[in-house]
Amino acid sequence: MRNVRGVCDDYLHNAESEKQVSHIAERSMNMPERPPPLRPRPVRAASPLAREFLLYCFLLVPLASELWMLPNGTPGDNPVKQVEADLGLWAFRFLLMTLAITPLRRYGRINLVRWRRVLGLLAFTYAFFHVFVFIVIDKKLAMNVVLHAVLTKYFLPFGIMAFLILMALAATSSRASMRVLGRKWRVLHRGIYIAACLVAVHYLLFFDGIRTEPVLYAALTLGLLAARFGGKHRQA
Ligand code: HEM
Repeated sequence: MRNVRGVCDDYLHNAESEKQVSHIAERSMNMPERPPPLRPRPVRAASPLAREFLLYCFLLVPLASELWMLPNGTPGDNPVKQVEADLGLWAFRFLLMTLAITPLRRYGRINLVRWRRVLGLLAFTYAFFHVFVFIVIDKKLAMNVVLHAVLTKYFLPFGIMAFLILMALAATSSRASMRVLGRKWRVLHRGIYIAACLVAVHYLLFFDGIRTEPVLYAALTLGLLAARFGGKHRQA
Protein backbone atom coordinates (compact mmCIF):
# COMPACT_ATOMS: atom_id res chain seq x y z
CA MET A 1 0.00 0.00 0.00
CA ARG A 2 2.78 2.30 1.05
CA ASN A 3 4.42 1.77 -2.36
CA VAL A 4 1.31 2.62 -4.36
CA ARG A 5 0.85 5.80 -2.36
CA GLY A 6 4.50 6.77 -2.78
CA VAL A 7 4.23 6.34 -6.54
CA CYS A 8 1.09 8.48 -6.63
CA ASP A 9 2.83 11.21 -4.58
CA ASP A 10 5.83 11.19 -6.90
CA TYR A 11 3.53 11.44 -9.91
CA LEU A 12 1.66 14.40 -8.46
CA HIS A 13 4.94 16.11 -7.50
CA ASN A 14 6.39 15.62 -10.99
CA ALA A 15 3.22 16.88 -12.60
CA GLU A 16 3.49 19.98 -10.43
CA SER A 17 7.10 20.64 -11.35
CA GLU A 18 6.35 20.06 -15.07
CA LYS A 19 3.64 22.71 -14.79
CA GLN A 20 6.16 25.07 -13.23
CA VAL A 21 8.72 24.41 -15.95
CA SER A 22 6.24 24.96 -18.74
CA HIS A 23 5.09 28.14 -16.99
CA ILE A 24 8.69 29.43 -16.76
CA ALA A 25 9.29 28.50 -20.42
CA GLU A 26 6.13 30.36 -21.48
CA ARG A 27 7.24 33.44 -19.53
CA SER A 28 10.70 33.38 -21.00
CA MET A 29 9.24 33.11 -24.53
CA ASN A 30 7.22 36.23 -23.92
CA MET A 31 10.26 38.13 -22.63
CA PRO A 32 11.90 40.51 -25.12
CA GLU A 33 15.01 38.96 -26.70
CA ARG A 34 18.28 39.96 -25.10
CA PRO A 35 20.60 41.78 -27.51
CA PRO A 36 23.67 39.70 -28.32
CA PRO A 37 26.76 40.71 -26.31
CA LEU A 38 28.84 43.38 -28.03
CA ARG A 39 31.98 41.93 -29.53
CA PRO A 40 34.67 44.03 -31.25
CA ARG A 41 34.34 43.67 -35.02
CA PRO A 42 37.21 41.71 -36.56
CA VAL A 43 39.49 44.07 -38.51
CA ARG A 44 39.49 42.92 -42.12
CA ALA A 45 42.86 43.09 -43.87
CA ALA A 46 42.72 44.63 -47.34
CA SER A 47 42.76 42.04 -50.12
CA PRO A 48 46.05 41.62 -52.03
CA LEU A 49 44.47 43.29 -55.07
CA ALA A 50 43.34 46.28 -52.97
CA ARG A 51 46.85 46.61 -51.50
CA GLU A 52 48.39 46.50 -54.97
CA PHE A 53 45.93 49.14 -56.13
CA LEU A 54 46.75 51.42 -53.18
CA LEU A 55 50.49 51.14 -53.81
CA TYR A 56 49.94 51.76 -57.53
CA CYS A 57 47.93 54.94 -56.81
CA PHE A 58 50.51 56.14 -54.26
CA LEU A 59 53.39 55.68 -56.71
CA LEU A 60 51.53 57.65 -59.36
CA VAL A 61 52.18 60.82 -57.35
CA PRO A 62 55.40 61.65 -59.30
CA LEU A 63 53.45 61.21 -62.54
CA ALA A 64 50.76 63.64 -61.35
CA SER A 65 53.36 66.20 -60.30
CA GLU A 66 55.18 65.85 -63.67
CA LEU A 67 51.95 66.28 -65.64
CA TRP A 68 51.07 69.28 -63.48
CA MET A 69 54.40 70.84 -64.49
CA LEU A 70 53.44 70.76 -68.19
CA PRO A 71 51.22 73.85 -68.16
CA ASN A 72 52.80 75.30 -65.00
CA GLY A 73 56.53 74.97 -65.76
CA THR A 74 58.87 77.84 -64.96
CA PRO A 75 58.95 80.32 -67.89
CA GLY A 76 62.20 80.08 -69.82
CA ASP A 77 62.45 76.32 -69.24
CA ASN A 78 61.33 73.74 -71.72
CA PRO A 79 58.84 71.95 -69.47
CA VAL A 80 57.74 69.55 -72.23
CA LYS A 81 61.29 68.22 -72.78
CA GLN A 82 61.88 68.13 -69.03
CA VAL A 83 58.70 66.15 -68.32
CA GLU A 84 59.41 63.81 -71.26
CA ALA A 85 62.87 63.03 -69.90
CA ASP A 86 61.70 62.73 -66.27
CA LEU A 87 58.95 60.27 -67.16
CA GLY A 88 61.40 58.15 -69.15
CA LEU A 89 63.70 58.07 -66.17
CA TRP A 90 60.88 57.12 -63.78
CA ALA A 91 59.88 54.30 -66.15
CA PHE A 92 63.45 53.01 -66.12
CA ARG A 93 63.62 53.22 -62.30
CA PHE A 94 60.44 51.16 -61.89
CA LEU A 95 61.75 48.65 -64.42
CA LEU A 96 64.95 48.25 -62.39
CA MET A 97 62.94 47.93 -59.15
CA THR A 98 60.95 45.12 -60.79
CA LEU A 99 64.19 43.39 -61.76
CA ALA A 100 65.56 43.80 -58.24
CA ILE A 101 62.81 41.67 -56.64
CA THR A 102 64.37 38.26 -57.38
CA PRO A 103 67.96 39.14 -56.31
CA LEU A 104 66.61 40.78 -53.14
CA ARG A 105 64.79 37.58 -52.21
CA ARG A 106 67.70 35.36 -53.18
CA TYR A 107 70.61 37.23 -51.63
CA GLY A 108 69.00 39.61 -49.13
CA ARG A 109 66.17 37.32 -47.95
CA ILE A 110 63.76 40.21 -48.48
CA ASN A 111 60.57 38.93 -50.05
CA LEU A 112 58.79 41.61 -52.06
CA VAL A 113 57.48 39.24 -54.73
CA ARG A 114 53.89 40.30 -54.13
CA TRP A 115 54.76 43.84 -55.30
CA ARG A 116 56.50 42.76 -58.53
CA ARG A 117 53.41 43.02 -60.72
CA VAL A 118 52.50 46.49 -59.51
CA LEU A 119 56.08 47.75 -60.06
CA GLY A 120 56.06 46.33 -63.59
CA LEU A 121 52.72 48.01 -64.28
CA LEU A 122 54.13 51.30 -62.98
CA ALA A 123 57.11 50.97 -65.35
CA PHE A 124 54.66 50.54 -68.23
CA THR A 125 52.43 53.44 -67.07
CA TYR A 126 55.36 55.87 -66.86
CA ALA A 127 56.70 54.64 -70.22
CA PHE A 128 53.23 55.17 -71.71
CA PHE A 129 53.11 58.80 -70.55
CA HIS A 130 56.74 59.32 -71.65
CA VAL A 131 55.72 58.26 -75.18
CA PHE A 132 52.42 60.17 -74.94
CA VAL A 133 54.19 63.43 -74.08
CA PHE A 134 56.68 62.87 -76.92
CA ILE A 135 54.08 62.13 -79.62
CA VAL A 136 51.06 64.17 -78.53
CA ILE A 137 52.51 67.20 -76.75
CA ASP A 138 56.05 67.54 -78.08
CA LYS A 139 55.42 66.54 -81.71
CA LYS A 140 51.72 67.55 -81.67
CA LEU A 141 50.68 64.30 -83.36
CA ALA A 142 52.58 65.21 -86.56
CA MET A 143 53.33 61.61 -87.51
CA ASN A 144 55.71 62.55 -90.32
CA VAL A 145 57.83 64.45 -87.77
CA VAL A 146 57.70 61.47 -85.38
CA LEU A 147 58.71 59.10 -88.20
CA HIS A 148 61.55 61.40 -89.20
CA ALA A 149 62.78 61.42 -85.59
CA VAL A 150 62.59 57.63 -85.38
CA LEU A 151 64.60 57.25 -88.59
CA THR A 152 67.27 59.79 -87.71
CA LYS A 153 67.78 59.36 -83.93
CA TYR A 154 69.46 56.05 -83.19
CA PHE A 155 68.24 55.87 -79.62
CA LEU A 156 64.53 55.89 -80.55
CA PRO A 157 64.13 52.39 -82.13
CA PHE A 158 65.55 50.87 -78.91
CA GLY A 159 62.92 52.72 -76.87
CA ILE A 160 60.15 51.64 -79.23
CA MET A 161 61.15 47.95 -79.00
CA ALA A 162 61.30 48.19 -75.20
CA PHE A 163 57.91 49.87 -75.12
CA LEU A 164 56.31 47.13 -77.25
CA ILE A 165 57.67 44.47 -74.89
CA LEU A 166 56.42 46.34 -71.81
CA MET A 167 53.01 46.68 -73.44
CA ALA A 168 52.82 42.90 -74.05
CA LEU A 169 53.86 42.23 -70.44
CA ALA A 170 51.33 44.69 -69.01
CA ALA A 171 48.56 43.19 -71.18
CA THR A 172 49.29 39.70 -69.82
CA SER A 173 50.00 40.66 -66.21
CA SER A 174 46.68 39.38 -64.81
CA ARG A 175 46.36 36.08 -62.97
CA ALA A 176 43.87 34.95 -65.61
CA SER A 177 46.52 35.40 -68.36
CA MET A 178 48.97 33.51 -66.16
CA ARG A 179 46.55 30.57 -65.97
CA VAL A 180 45.71 30.64 -69.67
CA LEU A 181 49.33 30.91 -70.89
CA GLY A 182 50.79 28.44 -68.37
CA ARG A 183 54.50 27.82 -69.06
CA LYS A 184 54.47 30.27 -71.98
CA TRP A 185 53.71 33.06 -69.49
CA ARG A 186 57.08 32.62 -67.78
CA VAL A 187 58.92 32.62 -71.08
CA LEU A 188 57.04 35.73 -72.25
CA HIS A 189 57.69 37.58 -69.01
CA ARG A 190 61.43 36.97 -69.29
CA GLY A 191 61.07 39.65 -71.97
CA ILE A 192 61.49 42.15 -69.14
CA TYR A 193 65.27 41.48 -69.21
CA ILE A 194 65.42 42.25 -72.93
CA ALA A 195 63.32 45.39 -72.37
CA ALA A 196 65.68 46.58 -69.63
CA CYS A 197 68.73 46.12 -71.90
CA LEU A 198 66.98 48.00 -74.72
CA VAL A 199 66.13 50.88 -72.38
CA ALA A 200 69.71 51.02 -71.11
CA VAL A 201 70.90 51.39 -74.74
CA HIS A 202 68.12 53.95 -75.45
CA TYR A 203 69.35 56.03 -72.51
CA LEU A 204 73.09 55.64 -73.34
CA LEU A 205 72.60 56.67 -76.99
CA PHE A 206 70.34 59.60 -76.15
CA PHE A 207 73.39 61.70 -75.21
CA ASP A 208 76.27 62.56 -77.51
CA GLY A 209 79.31 61.17 -75.76
CA ILE A 210 79.51 59.38 -72.44
CA ARG A 211 77.59 60.64 -69.40
CA THR A 212 77.80 59.30 -65.87
CA GLU A 213 74.07 58.75 -65.19
CA PRO A 214 73.22 56.51 -68.15
CA VAL A 215 76.42 54.52 -67.55
CA LEU A 216 75.41 53.96 -63.92
CA TYR A 217 71.91 52.86 -64.95
CA ALA A 218 73.38 50.49 -67.58
CA ALA A 219 75.77 49.03 -64.98
CA LEU A 220 72.87 48.52 -62.56
CA THR A 221 70.88 46.77 -65.29
CA LEU A 222 73.79 44.42 -66.04
CA GLY A 223 74.34 43.81 -62.32
CA LEU A 224 70.69 42.84 -61.82
CA LEU A 225 70.80 40.55 -64.85
CA ALA A 226 73.96 38.88 -63.53
CA ALA A 227 72.31 38.42 -60.12
CA ARG A 228 69.29 36.86 -61.81
CA PHE A 229 71.03 34.54 -64.27
CA GLY A 230 74.45 34.04 -62.72
CA GLY A 231 75.41 31.63 -59.95
CA LYS A 232 73.80 28.29 -59.02
CA HIS A 233 70.22 29.59 -58.72
CA ARG A 234 68.53 29.71 -62.07
CA GLN A 235 64.90 29.50 -61.08
CA ALA A 236 62.79 32.65 -60.45
C1 HEM B 1 57.96 54.32 -78.18
C2 HEM B 1 58.92 54.29 -77.26
C3 HEM B 1 59.76 55.46 -76.83
C4 HEM B 1 59.97 56.69 -77.41
C5 HEM B 1 59.38 57.22 -78.69
C6 HEM B 1 60.87 57.43 -76.56
C7 HEM B 1 61.30 58.70 -76.77
C8 HEM B 1 62.26 59.36 -76.05
C9 HEM B 1 62.75 60.68 -76.32
C10 HEM B 1 62.28 61.57 -77.44
C11 HEM B 1 63.68 60.96 -75.41
C12 HEM B 1 64.49 62.26 -75.29
C13 HEM B 1 63.78 63.18 -74.33
C14 HEM B 1 64.37 64.57 -74.38
O1 HEM B 1 64.57 65.09 -75.46
O2 HEM B 1 64.61 65.14 -73.30
C15 HEM B 1 63.81 59.83 -74.55
C16 HEM B 1 64.65 59.74 -73.50
C17 HEM B 1 64.58 58.74 -72.57
N1 HEM B 1 63.75 57.66 -72.57
FE1 HEM B 1 62.48 57.15 -74.03
N2 HEM B 1 61.20 56.65 -75.49
C18 HEM B 1 60.53 55.46 -75.62
C19 HEM B 1 60.55 54.40 -74.75
C20 HEM B 1 61.15 54.45 -73.55
C21 HEM B 1 60.99 53.46 -72.54
C22 HEM B 1 60.14 52.20 -72.67
C23 HEM B 1 61.74 53.86 -71.47
C24 HEM B 1 61.92 53.25 -70.13
C25 HEM B 1 61.26 52.21 -69.66
C26 HEM B 1 62.40 55.09 -71.85
C27 HEM B 1 63.28 55.78 -71.06
C28 HEM B 1 63.95 56.92 -71.45
C29 HEM B 1 65.01 57.55 -70.68
C30 HEM B 1 65.56 57.05 -69.35
C31 HEM B 1 65.41 58.69 -71.37
C32 HEM B 1 66.50 59.70 -70.97
C33 HEM B 1 65.86 60.74 -70.06
C34 HEM B 1 66.85 61.77 -69.55
O3 HEM B 1 67.28 62.61 -70.31
O4 HEM B 1 67.19 61.75 -68.37
N3 HEM B 1 62.00 55.43 -73.10
N4 HEM B 1 62.93 58.86 -74.96
